[in-house]
Amino acid sequence: MPRATIIDCDPGTDDAIALLLAMGSPEIDLRLVTAVGGNVGLGITLANARALVALGGSAVPVVGGADRALMRPYQEAAYVHGENGLGGVVLPPGPPAAPGLAVDAMRALLRQAAPDSVTLVGIGPATNLGLVLAAEPELAGRVAEIVLMTGAWAEGNVTPAAEFNAWNDPEALQIVLSCGRPITLATLELTAQAVCTPARIAALRGLGGGAALRAACAIEATVPPSKRLGIDGHPEHDACAVAWVVAPQLFTSRMVFAEVDCGNGPGRGQTLIDRWDRLKRTANVRLLETVDAEGFFQLLGQALTRLA
Ligand code: RIB
Ligand code: CA
Repeated sequence: MPRATIIDCDPGTDDAIALLLAMGSPEIDLRLVTAVGGNVGLGITLANARALVALGGSAVPVVGGADRALMRPYQEAAYVHGENGLGGVVLPPGPPAAPGLAVDAMRALLRQAAPDSVTLVGIGPATNLGLVLAAEPELAGRVAEIVLMTGAWAEGNVTPAAEFNAWNDPEALQIVLSCGRPITLATLELTAQAVCTPARIAALRGLGGGAALRAACAIEATVPPSKRLGIDGHPEHDACAVAWVVAPQLFTSRMVFAEVDCGNGPGRGQTLIDRWDRLKRTANVRLLETVDAEGFFQLLGQALTRLA
């Protein structure tokens, strides 16, 4: 059965690939796409989400959400994703955003949903997800699983301690991590195993496909190689979260306790992930540990070739 899914995103080059993967995967019944300020400002992430949904040939509603974190002014990452958030690749504009706010659209959808029936995929700062769970906690019971690209149990990518999404809104992330529903984390250590290289882009291009595949490859080609990893490629961060929903068999995982540092020191946004149960705290997240990278890129290629 396709999984009813909401994707909250901040497109963002890797968000773009994640959205196209979702739209090209019959395992996902995409019900709502919401945008949050993150890689670039909300005005751009929302416009990019609309354009990507149109590129994927989907009629799913796209709704704008928070343009800043709960407790901090907005802080962007255009240095990675370019001023337009898609590495300078210009897509035909999508239809107008659906009216209203992401938090209200999510709550309206969850109110109509059966218990344990909706998968939330968060691939940007968790502000919109945190607002939903704080505003109407009882709706958490309608959520089957929350899948997040966020955090790191080792080194961060925006500070030595913190990964960008967690760093951008640690308070919202902590609300999500403590909501009591099944949570799955794709951290930097996981996404570093799914590296998009020039050879993999060439292989995707070789599949033929249509405008969506070509645009995906064009966007991928704009992403600078990862200095942090010292490789000739970049981690496919957000698509790893979607791939877990589509093909969990590609991953291994373990249940762990995790929380995030909401302090104001150098560790702000650090995800403390207790992989060895040293704190003897009840495990609250499924930590994705490994991914079959070849299988991941085959899955991505199959999804992209399904799109026009
Ligand atoms: O740290 C990587 C994450 O931050 C990804 O979701 C990327 O799109 C940015 O939002
Ligand atoms: Ca993102």
